[in-house]
Amino acid sequence: MTDLNVNGTVHRVEAEPDKPLLWVLREDLGLTGSKFGCGVGQCLACTVHLDGEPAAACLTPLAAVAGRRVTTIEGLPAAASHPVQRAWVEMNVVQCGYCQSGQILAAVALLAAHREPADADIDRAMRGNLCRCGTYQRIRGAVRRAAALARGEV
Ligand code: FES
Repeated sequence: MTDLNVNGTVHRVEAEPDKPLLWVLREDLGLTGSKFGCGVGQCLACTVHLDGEPAAACLTPLAAVAGRRVTTIEGLPAAASHPVQRAWVEMNVVQCGYCQSGQILAAVALLAAHREPADADIDRAMRGNLCRCGTYQRIRGAVRRAAALARGEV
């Protein structure tokens, strides 16, 4: 039995300690916003936050997250009021959508660390998050827009 803090709620999970966090989230907790892409940490469709830092949930065993804060896409405001969510909608970023929960969580972590990220910061923070639809230009624009929204610019 493992106590798992996900999006501010503590869940008592009965799963093997080596079960990947991605499958605990999806199968045991019903949080399906984190996607299975490659299963080897190469596409980051499964990105979540561990104590505020992006992490590949497919590579993270349950035992490694006990006592840590896990945030998934479901932990962002349901009203889509976070600057990253607002910018994503405004810039019409999403194509098929499969990679986008990971992209959004990577962007949220970036903006928490950088109030005004340069293009190089954006590229560095987002480079591991692959998008088979090729939405990279819109993602970069949306991260810049989200930073502006977070600074209170309209
Ligand atoms: Fe389709 Fe990124 S929007 S994989």
